[in-house]
Amino acid sequence: MEIANTTYDRLTPRDFISLRIYHEKFENIKKSLKEILFTDKVDNLMTDLNFLKYAFKADLDAAYEFGLIGGHQILLKLLMKYNDYEEILSPLGDVIEACTSSCLQFPIKSSTTIKFEERRVPLKIMLDTGNINNFGNSDDRKNSSSKKKEILLRTIPKDINEIASSNKANLTVGYYLWDASIAMAYWLVKNSIFFKNKKVLEIGCGAGLVGIVAASYASRVYMCDFNLKIIENVSYNIKLNSKKAHSNNKKQYNCCCVNDDMQVKGVAFDWETVDFSIYKKDGLKKESMDVILGADVICQESDCYNIARVLKYYLTKDTGVAYFLHGTEEHRFGVEKFATAMQSEGFNVVNMDDVINENGEYQTFIASNRHFNSRPLDKYKMFKVTS
Ligand SMILES: C[S@@+](CC[C@H](N)C(=O)[O-])C[C@H]1O[C@@H](n2cnc3c(N)ncnc32)[C@H](O)[C@@H]1O
Repeated sequence: MEIANTTYDRLTPRDFISLRIYHEKFENIKKSLKEILFTDKVDNLMTDLNFLKYAFKADLDAAYEFGLIGGHQILLKLLMKYNDYEEILSPLGDVIEACTSSCLQFPIKSSTTIKFEERRVPLKIMLDTGNINNFGNSDDRKNSSSKKKEILLRTIPKDINEIASSNKANLTVGYYLWDASIAMAYWLVKNSIFFKNKKVLEIGCGAGLVGIVAASYASRVYMCDFNLKIIENVSYNIKLNSKKAHSNNKKQYNCCCVNDDMQVKGVAFDWETVDFSIYKKDGLKKESMDVILGADVICQESDCYNIARVLKYYLTKDTGVAYFLHGTEEHRFGVEKFATAMQSEGFNVVNMDDVINENGEYQTFIASNRHFNSRPLDKYKMFKVTS
């Protein structure tokens, strides 16, 4: 029996995953998987083995997803069925090896030379800028009507130790991309005027979508989080979306969002210790910000008061504005206290829920940008806070 073509051999993992055909083919395999599972037509997967081998080596999520939807059962069936055929066992062995080294669902984990985080393919967020040039760059202005902007975002896979240690859950929430960020990025593009040449601070930035989009308008952006792994990843994402990084690569990605990556910075910062006692060396210095942003940053009541302290410390007196987009109390503790907590700390609060919940526009946008490893919320709350 013939095993699929070997043209993938000539590609590096990075080139392989950027092939459009890769995403389409993987989607088709996933679709046919159900049928294969229920009808036992396991042979149907044979021609895709070589493809899967490369997919799993290059893309952590693909292997994980394949395992979650039961793909490994088919591989095991194939293994049993063809255990006499050397020419099949060998590629099958390769696929299983690639799969087991990536997929936490599999019982065996083999070692790999590629760094764990590096095997996660960045998500693509499509920001349709329509007829308005929202991205401030002069060359965008010429082509603005036809362009959809892609933001590339690598999220962080949890390693096995982090999964095992539940008391660290809070430390790893920023490993995902949450719906609130997607909604806030969309709102930001529609209201880019508020960010033009401003100094912006994003707190609890996670994967960094909001800050990276803000960086296409603002004069300076600081993206903060309290987990150093998140900051390392955000620094990677800033580069991934910089004009510089894609200057030779415009055909593949239209994501030159960050004009100058020196103007955007990931900074370690814990809102429970605004006095910088933890991150003295690289911490955020006292600097007054024109705009402060937070997407899905309230997970408990104390966050409201801690964030009020951040505003007191960093928001420019009288002219500074902060925007927060939260989940609702169905999903998050403490959000119902946000407005009163801010008011009790002397801030003015304007409810902007209608902006994001009216006429379903935001929901449609969020739904079309959800990914396998992004995290859904159903409804949103949005506030503008001023001193
Ligand atoms: C639910 S996630 C939202 C992440 C991102 N804004 C998004 O919407 O995708 C909450 C974020 O707040 C960060 N965070 C939680 N507690 C924090 C603290 N005390 N100081 C700074 N960041 C914190 C987490 O690391 C995480 O990135």
